[in-house]
Amino acid sequence: MAKVKSAYFCQSCGYESPKWLGKCPACQQWNTFVEEITEKKSSGVPDWKSDTSSIKPRVNKPQKVQEITYTEEQRLITPDKELNRVLGGGIVSGSLILIGGEPGIGKSTLMLQLALTLPKIKVLYVSGEESEQQIKLRAERITPHPLSECFILTETSTQNIFKQIEVLEPNIVVVDSIQTLHSAHIESTPGSVSQVRECTAELMRFAKESNTPVFLIGHITKDGMIAGPKILEHMVDTVLQFEGDRHHVYRILRAIKNRFGSSAELGIYEMQGNGLREVSNPSEILLSLREEALSGVTVSATMEGMRPILIETQALVSNSPYGTPQRSSTGFDTKRMNMLLAVLEKRCGFKLGAKDVFLNIAGGIRIEDPSIDLGLIAAIISSHEDMPISHKICFAAEVGLSGEIRAVTRIEQRIAEAEKLGFEQIFISKYNKKGIDFGKYSINIQPVSKVEEVFELLF
Ligand code: TYD
Ligand code: MG
Repeated sequence: MAKVKSAYFCQSCGYESPKWLGKCPACQQWNTFVEEITEKKSSGVPDWKSDTSSIKPRVNKPQKVQEITYTEEQRLITPDKELNRVLGGGIVSGSLILIGGEPGIGKSTLMLQLALTLPKIKVLYVSGEESEQQIKLRAERITPHPLSECFILTETSTQNIFKQIEVLEPNIVVVDSIQTLHSAHIESTPGSVSQVRECTAELMRFAKESNTPVFLIGHITKDGMIAGPKILEHMVDTVLQFEGDRHHVYRILRAIKNRFGSSAELGIYEMQGNGLREVSNPSEILLSLREEALSGVTVSATMEGMRPILIETQALVSNSPYGTPQRSSTGFDTKRMNMLLAVLEKRCGFKLGAKDVFLNIAGGIRIEDPSIDLGLIAAIISSHEDMPISHKICFAAEVGLSGEIRAVTRIEQRIAEAEKLGFEQIFISKYNKKGIDFGKYSINIQPVSKVEEVFELLF
């Protein structure tokens, strides 16, 4: 009997080692190594082809860059405009797309909705998570396109999946989820590093050789990693992350990596009783329609991808009843919040050390654009001093460690969006002033260079 080959894999990053290690040398995590059997019976024939006659060994030769010809990649434009945007203008044929997200966020809904609304495109939806009945129940809530051709297959063995694919010849394959698949070539359990890696590799070969786009759904662990094997991210063409607060209705689809487009793009959806609805004018929804100014609330003009989004930032500063003040933020990096608080202490003399500070970005959305800094600082001081800031004022600038107000990108787009939504004044960095045609706007543009200056103007 042949000796069974095995290796140890870090379940966190996929690092492979011939022997057990306490600490992973790659990701520095402790106690993450698990033995997995890696023995492969390789026949040299891809699993998804039983007919081997068409397979020719290919030998590539080096080619001069100038001599390489290329054809524009073919893209399938879906009815889902947000998905098209995030993918960089539609689904590229033969691409492998990973959709990650926490359980219950709506990954299966997003993919099933895509399958049901694509007219005349044969989609094979492979599920290892739910039964046909469960998927049917979910599908009942979504209005399908009358010409859609969505096939459901509940199967977890890649070899069987490829057999069905050969019969059905779908135009798109969706796999829900990669962690439930197993390949007969690997003996370890589904969800383990070597299984996930092998199944992804098989699907990758299938996608490339048959030119069929494949969507993989992947679960994400609490700390935001595509569960266990981060290795997946390197293998696929595109990584999309579906995120949002489960208790809010808004969901964000973010491109983290995209070989065929910008990775700064973002799509916004609203989870409704009948599936996900695209949100095409996010600012109007994310701004609560306030009639009056409230203390601790400001509006920032942020950019998500290529789109300006005006969003409400809320702060609450109160005396800490216990010895250690609490600092918490929702939708914003806590480290960055602490930095902003330190700037306020050190540069502006506000005594916030013994205060509880809570920050919240409205709508359960996470903002990464630093242009939200100035709006947050203004909200913190507004709450601290209990002085409201006019709800007709909006902010768009980054704050540096010395309290300087820094320029942000695409300022004109932000100004235009603020004007469109009826704001009367926008605070920007004076370094952003250059190149702005002030005469073009009816909104009052207020350039500032220091945090102190902003407070003098506001209060
Ligand atoms: P689901 O797609 O199952 O999440 P995931 O695959 O990421 O785990 O979505 C789960 C939630 O979405 C569930 O709580 C029910 C809700 N939902 C709606 O609100 N409306 C709908 O039309 C559908 C299909 C689901
Ligand atoms: Mg699911």
